[in-house]
Amino acid sequence: MLSERVCKIKPSATLAMDTKAKAMKAKGLDIVNFGVGEPDFDTPDHIKEAAIKAIREGFTKYTAVGGIDELKDAIIAKLKNDNGIDYAREEIIVSCGAKHSLYNIAQALYGPGDEVLIPSPYWVSYPDQVLLSDAVPVFVHTTEADSFMLKTELLESKITKKTKALILNSPSNPTGFIYDRKALEAIAAIAVKHNIYVIADEVYEKLVYDGHEHISIASLGKEIKALTIVVNALSKSHAMTGWRIGYAAGPKDIIKAMTNIQSQSTSNPNSIAQKAAVTALTGPQDSVGIMRAEFDKRRKFLVDGLNNIKGIRCLPPTGAFYVFPNVSALYGKKAGQRQINSSLDFALYLLEEAKVALVHGEAFGDDNYIRISYATSMENIEKALGRIREAVARLG
Ligand SMILES: Cc1ncc(COP(=O)(O)O)c(C=O)c1O
Repeated sequence: MLSERVCKIKPSATLAMDTKAKAMKAKGLDIVNFGVGEPDFDTPDHIKEAAIKAIREGFTKYTAVGGIDELKDAIIAKLKNDNGIDYAREEIIVSCGAKHSLYNIAQALYGPGDEVLIPSPYWVSYPDQVLLSDAVPVFVHTTEADSFMLKTELLESKITKKTKALILNSPSNPTGFIYDRKALEAIAAIAVKHNIYVIADEVYEKLVYDGHEHISIASLGKEIKALTIVVNALSKSHAMTGWRIGYAAGPKDIIKAMTNIQSQSTSNPNSIAQKAAVTALTGPQDSVGIMRAEFDKRRKFLVDGLNNIKGIRCLPPTGAFYVFPNVSALYGKKAGQRQINSSLDFALYLLEEAKVALVHGEAFGDDNYIRISYATSMENIEKALGRIREAVARLG
């Protein structure tokens, strides 16, 4: 019999949709995959070369559990230069991706009965990671009318004696919106007042558009820094999803606890990928800007295209590589015998009838929306938009 804990969780909906789309593709169907959460760019060559060099030099053994000093130092320099925050080595841990850092944080901080605030729509793994530590996810809803920003009064109304932490994701997956300084200052004031931790997931920090600036909440003062654990990764910024390198920066007792968890579970992240990550952080950063410029072009094209489809409404997001259009005006409509009553119905309709894979908003906590990743070529975006337009036109 399986443990009670594991029965509370489900597989990642985004990965499940991706698997379904890939299986259809393997059968020879021409699927446009709008479901994936990874850059379609290749890892830059100089980073690959660093990994090849590491293998040739025999850097293929266990390393320190929480990452090599050389990488911790590169992360410290990055956090200082990009985010204006000072950390020491004992305040840094390198993990197997940001997801692993987030999991370690959940195991280190949350316990039975603890409440963890999660703004919704949310990234799919947050609630399940909270459940895996026997704590309770408490959702704080955000709306399109507020550009999916947390309303501070609502946030404060959800805080109880059991509240342990708030998970803040900016730029956000799935909405693509980012918090500005003023909004972050208001959230920081609440966190400090109630003494709750802030888990700041900043994996999309390099992907911000329209002149917006990414700000790390930990940079807003000593008090909030002491309560914040910043999580980041090389996955999205340097097209390194498969290398599995992420990291967390925060108070040293928490980082130490996370390192202990890592030492009894995964041991160190891959040694070769750690060397590649050093080069990614300290080498030329041109590829980051090139990717951002390309994503920006696609974002504009996709938002315009979606807003030209009757029944779909899409706010232009300011970060990440997702759009989160409202499709609820289509609910109740039919194509033949098939009625669309939910985001899942619509996502399955598009997958089966239009050969476009995307993720239903319900998986992120809001059934009125779908999530589209534009980490795919312009050509695919154009093709998929045409297919969606036709499929929606068939609904009556
Ligand atoms: C908001 C968010 N956090 C964390 C992750 C996980 O990143 P990694 O691949 O580094 O584990 C993702 C990946 O999709 C994400 O979207």
